Amino acid sequence: MDTTTGPTQPKTSPEVTQDRVLNENDWRDNWEKRKIGFHEKNIHVFLSEFVEDMVNKRAQIHIFFPLCGKAVDMKWLADMGHSIVGVDVSEMGLKEFFEEQNIPYVEETLPEIPGAKVFKSTSGNISLYCCNMFDLSSSIIGKFGGIWDRGAMVAINSWDRERYAKLILTLMENDCRYLLVTCVYDPKLHPGPPFYISDTARESLLGQSCNVKFLKTIDSFTDEQRDWGLDYYNDNLYLVTLKSSS
Ligand SMILES: C[S@@+](CC[C@H](N)C(=O)[O-])C[C@H]1O[C@@H](n2cnc3c(N)ncnc32)[C@H](O)[C@@H]1O
Repeated sequence: MDTTTGPTQPKTSPEVTQDRVLNENDWRDNWEKRKIGFHEKNIHVFLSEFVEDMVNKRAQIHIFFPLCGKAVDMKWLADMGHSIVGVDVSEMGLKEFFEEQNIPYVEETLPEIPGAKVFKSTSGNISLYCCNMFDLSSSIIGKFGGIWDRGAMVAINSWDRERYAKLILTLMENDCRYLLVTCVYDPKLHPGPPFYISDTARESLLGQSCNVKFLKTIDSFTDEQRDWGLDYYNDNLYLVTLKSSS
């Protein structure tokens, strides 16, 4: 059953297997070598336009940022009174977030996960976990009323995507409103990341448990994508909610 509703979506590319694989060290290496073209200095255009689709008039909700990097959106939402939990394997990225946003923070170890750390704003409203996301669970970080997934599902190796979606589902409160950004390009021309996720793949990951509503597409093609050898590149935004909540 197709659970995608809302405005008509643009056609996406056919299913193609992309075989590029990045491990934790590759990502840390990208940060060290400043290969962080994914980082945006401004609030993401989708988030500023659709934030209410996630917040839905609720105050002080818990919002999860999977694979958060140093996304400035975390401070924006924290300043609105929400509490933020993020996770990233890069300690460098997480420390840069606090330093660049001038947010005082403390560093703590995490007894549940050997080698992991958590960086917490001293005001207590932002907690960023430095570990592999797959080491987390709702018993460690709780469940969330909102999820902002930009550069996250699309950064997960294809063979881990199902595990990622299953974990995300366990982190959703019943009334969770999850904004998911995916990208559309010809995957024969670029091995990723970001990885291309077809409609069929997205549906098989989320469609059984969730309603997935298409919200908007934007043309995000820049010189960066031209250098990857692409000739078009769009970002799509979806609102994901649990079927059990409706
Ligand atoms: C494409 S970047 C996106 C960062 C952020 N969401 C943004 O929009 O700027 C992907 C991030 O995921 C992190 N990462 C990749 N795999 C991870 C994993 N398994 N667990 C935690 N972090 C991971 C990388 O270090 C990187 O910062």
